[in-house]
Amino acid sequence: MTNKLILAIESSCDETAAAVVRNGREVLSNIISSQIDLHTLYGGVVPEIASRKHTEKVNQVTAEALKAAGVTLEDVDAIAVTYGPGLVGALLVGVSFAKALAWAAHKPLIGVNHIEGHISANYIENKELEPPFVCLVVSGGHSHLVKVMDYGKYEVLGRTRDDAAGEAFDKVARAIGLGYPGGPKIDKVSNEGNPLAIEFPRAKVADSVYDFSFSGLKSAVLNYLNTCEMKGETVIQADVAASFQKAVVDVLVDHSMTAVRESGMNRFAIAGGVASNSHLRAALEEACRKEGISFYRPSPILCTDNAAMIGAAGYYELLSGAESSLSLNAIPALKLGER
Ligand code: KG4
Ligand code: ZN
Repeated sequence: MTNKLILAIESSCDETAAAVVRNGREVLSNIISSQIDLHTLYGGVVPEIASRKHTEKVNQVTAEALKAAGVTLEDVDAIAVTYGPGLVGALLVGVSFAKALAWAAHKPLIGVNHIEGHISANYIENKELEPPFVCLVVSGGHSHLVKVMDYGKYEVLGRTRDDAAGEAFDKVARAIGLGYPGGPKIDKVSNEGNPLAIEFPRAKVADSVYDFSFSGLKSAVLNYLNTCEMKGETVIQADVAASFQKAVVDVLVDHSMTAVRESGMNRFAIAGGVASNSHLRAALEEACRKEGISFYRPSPILCTDNAAMIGAAGYYELLSGAESSLSLNAIPALKLGER
């Protein structure tokens, strides 16, 4: 199959996004309309507001993506859309819109798993990357350590038992007064702090070397803040941020390298919003260099939610013949590898 153009739509959380991608790897356009400013007022994503904003934006964002790519709806070979996991009301906007377009333009519809999309972001800038490889997926809703066996074929080695990595960043940022969204703010403020100032716990999950647990770390930060307050000690925001971030990064690097070693694979990739964290990227780069394995990471803009990654994943779904019917529904708790 040559020269397949995919129009991709993403609306699982707080970004309305559309993209046109050629053959899964070449991005012709990538339009992202972020709602972050709106949700910042409330300190986090408000699902009702997210759905309403997606409804307002999805048509315009899609038209812009087609225009920027210099193509029309007629020219595309398939329409890919995120159908889970995510916020149900938000997902439904993209799914309904994509179904209507597919029906009206007589194009195949491809439902894409959002996590699979994050992983597939790696194919865009690394034309030579092919499975198998190990991938760490860390976003606001998910923390997974995955063996990518083939396109669309995954083995989940580990996952979080409680909070996702991004969720921990957001909650700690709120607690130390940085506000939403926490990840990028902690990343930045940490540059001024001492990562060794406070010894926060590196949680291990008793029966799994791959699973994560971040809620204990979050509680440890809250306890530290309370203790400081009770003792009348000043909290140094940058030190708390840097020390918390180091605890997260240490655990992510440690588990990832164990997975790399035990799987015998020589390629390692990262994905998801937290993968844009500069300290995590540097630490993983160094760890992979020491292990003698290739390290792949999408540019930060392809780590956070976007539709180009959905177009990349959608292309491989199309190749495998996995077309969705017009009865496709949003599945808020969709698992990786499930259809
Ligand atoms: O992948 P994503 O855009 O949406 C989900 O699928 O969840 O990830 C968003 C998450 C948020 O929790 C945000 O705080 C975090 O990614 N994040 C970061 C950074 N940029 C975004 N976390 C740490 N450092 C960053 N630079
Ligand atoms: Zn995401």
